[in-house]
Amino acid sequence: MSITAFRPTGDDALVAVTEVDAPTPRPDEALIAVEAFSVNRGEVLLLASGRQEPPGKDVAGRVLQAARDGSGPAAGTRVVAHIEHGGWAEQVGVPTIRLAVLPDEVPSEVAATLPLAGLTALRLLRAAGGIAGRRLLLTGASGGVGHYLVELAAGIGAKVTAVTATPQRGERLLALGADAVVAAVEDAEGPFDVVIESVGGDVFGQALLKLRRDGLMLWYGQASLEPARADFFAVGQGPVDVTVRSLWYWTEADRDGEDLATLVDLVAAGHLHPEIGEIADWAETPRLLAAVRERQVRGNAVLTVPPVISGGSPRLEQAVRASAA
Ligand SMILES: NC(=O)c1ccc[n+]([C@@H]2O[C@H](COP(=O)([O-])OP(=O)(O)OC[C@H]3O[C@@H](n4cnc5c(N)ncnc54)[C@H](OP(=O)(O)O)[C@@H]3O)[C@@H](O)[C@H]2O)c1
Repeated sequence: MSITAFRPTGDDALVAVTEVDAPTPRPDEALIAVEAFSVNRGEVLLLASGRQEPPGKDVAGRVLQAARDGSGPAAGTRVVAHIEHGGWAEQVGVPTIRLAVLPDEVPSEVAATLPLAGLTALRLLRAAGGIAGRRLLLTGASGGVGHYLVELAAGIGAKVTAVTATPQRGERLLALGADAVVAAVEDAEGPFDVVIESVGGDVFGQALLKLRRDGLMLWYGQASLEPARADFFAVGQGPVDVTVRSLWYWTEADRDGEDLATLVDLVAAGHLHPEIGEIADWAETPRLLAAVRERQVRGNAVLTVPPVISGGSPRLEQAVRASAA
């Protein structure tokens, strides 16, 4: 059997639709009918750099076939999952330790925004330690990860200063709990206990100088594509003793399922509001990839897979009947 999926083209379109063999899940994997997926800047950058692996890390949908080893949810259950690759497709196999069950009040198109961006934000804040009452500076705050960081950090009680070049995006960050929004790092009123940096270039060095003595910078990205630049002697005349710690969210992949469940609970309880800048039919994936690349999307970009293609009702009903028999 074959399914429809996006594969890299190696040209400016980045991806094209193609027919590929249906996935054959491992014993510990559930087969998911994808209902929605989201695209992240990091994935777009990888495609633009010529990476050829099937794209797609963030998916939400329904279990078509439960895992053969008995782990995870039954056929018919709605889930959100974080996978290595291949999620921009009708169906995908997902290790059951990397998915979480969705309650009715969290739609698939909302849940699809949670994996890469939400997991990164959660893990950055864990790495930041106790931030209640602490002063936090976030660069790239209007991005997919940034929106989650602002709302989660403010919810914990941190005093958040968010950097975004766009005033309209700044208003949303204030609504999510930011204390202050500035258009450039130089305008931020420090010193800060923690800086979370994702832009790179000169922004990295400017943000470092906003730390207090003994402050911590968590460094997780380079959205500008420019390597981080900093002046050691300027640090000597400023915060002096600082710690810079890089963080890669995938080092905690064994916690994906439990961390996704935490994020889903926060959304269901109304404590976390995924910011969906654009939502479109998956046929529009190449256009949306270009928009993410051009910095035109606020927060997360989501693609929906029509049920008739995703194996929605008829095939799902068959799967549910087969598992009940
Ligand atoms: N280490 C990890 O595990 C990990 C995990 C996830 C993401 N990342 C990386 O973290 C970065 C942010 O990811 P994301 O998904 O949140 O990206 P995103 O949604 O594209 O957000 C990036 C934000 O950075 C701001 N920005 C400032 N200068 C920029 C420039 N020159 N080019 C592009 N954006 C610029 C933009 O805000 P304004 O236009 O409003 O200023 C934009 O909203 C990316 O580099 C990504 O690869 C790393």
